[in-house]
Amino acid sequence: MSATAVIGLQWGDEAKGKIVDLLTDQHDVVVRYQGGNNAGHTVVFGGNTYKLSLLPVGVLRPEITSVIATGVVINPAALLGEIDQLRARNVPLGDNLLISDRAHVIFPWHMAEEAAFEAARGGNAIGTTMRGIGTCYRDKAGRTHAIRVGDLMYPDLLRSRIAEVIEQKTPVLRALNPATPTLDVAKITEDYLGYAERLRPHVIDTTAWLHKALAQNKRLLFEGAQGSLLDVDHGSYPFVTSSSSSGCGIHSGSGVPERQISKMIGVVKAYTTRVGGGPFPTELLDATGQHIRDVGREYGTVTGRPRRCGWFDGVATGYGARISGIDCLSVMLLDVLAQLDELKICTAYEIDGERTTDFPSHIQQLAKAKPVYQTLPGWKRDISGVRRLADLPKETRAYLDTLSELMQLPVWLVSIGPDREQTILC
Ligand code: IMP
Repeated sequence: MSATAVIGLQWGDEAKGKIVDLLTDQHDVVVRYQGGNNAGHTVVFGGNTYKLSLLPVGVLRPEITSVIATGVVINPAALLGEIDQLRARNVPLGDNLLISDRAHVIFPWHMAEEAAFEAARGGNAIGTTMRGIGTCYRDKAGRTHAIRVGDLMYPDLLRSRIAEVIEQKTPVLRALNPATPTLDVAKITEDYLGYAERLRPHVIDTTAWLHKALAQNKRLLFEGAQGSLLDVDHGSYPFVTSSSSSGCGIHSGSGVPERQISKMIGVVKAYTTRVGGGPFPTELLDATGQHIRDVGREYGTVTGRPRRCGWFDGVATGYGARISGIDCLSVMLLDVLAQLDELKICTAYEIDGERTTDFPSHIQQLAKAKPVYQTLPGWKRDISGVRRLADLPKETRAYLDTLSELMQLPVWLVSIGPDREQTILC
């Protein structure tokens, strides 16, 4: 067993990219297995800042093979845009990038449908990233209107599929929103035939490739996108993404059984954030929430939306860890809390007068959950230059100990700034 997985345990944006980047030189292959260009990683590498969305973080190192596996939904224009951006900055991309022929493709109608469905929900909108992610996964499950990367490789098949899908979708889209722009069959076909030719050298059966890599004792690193609480099955449904974004998605999204993974790393922020709609029991709608947003620069990498901020939620995050089968924690952005007089950690919820440490399965219950807090003293000191656990203020260590006890997991790493060096291995 030589595989590692990096999984977000909250509502996404846990700074997983930094952990994946730190671990890449101990691995041969980095695998993305779910989600699409709704994800956003910011990685500082060689003094440059890179914003990656679909490409695995491994692409910054040519000696590593980066795999976009079967469970991912791919917007080819977005993917090629990222590839071009990297090439322009002299990051070579050749046979070190592999794309699954079983992955599904996002088309312009997916964005149009999503805009119409979200508008129809009005104030109760899911608050999606508008990248056509959910509508593409919907077609994948429905099968009748889905187009996979493998289909892009057969021009005649692709032409007829695009024409057929547009013919069937247009009346539905018009009924949802009469102002929907016409889906131009000729233009979309020409665009996608062009994308297909550029992607062709990278497209293979990644499942077979990954199994051969395992047989050759290559070390795999699975890079989760979004977080466990956004998982379509286990998250705060319906305010979730449409893929298995907890550890549960690794097997289905890559074809690699979970028993191949020897270390499941759960990444958490030292507090909680959320983008989009849905209940958020520990949300801070006050000056403290704004302070965390400002200091943590909590604005979406993909959409630029301000993130909702709140205290660390041990109930929600503990649940995220349990469904993902986590071995240890990476606590990120601890430096952001430095100026606060006191800190709160949610240890339980009170719902209809009853105390529970279970994460509610129904959104109506989650909406009613009142956090029960443990209050801890702040440390009121800049910790971004600290490099050893023992050198952290005792209040900071007490905060970490409380998180660790609550989650019943050891803290493996603490991050106190965006740079690689601003990392404490415990
Ligand atoms: P979708 O994935 O675009 O369908 O959006 C569904 C929900 O997941 C929305 O609340 C988004 O804000 C959230 N979401 C999707 N991707 C990310 C991410 O990478 N980080 C944080 N939230 C995300």
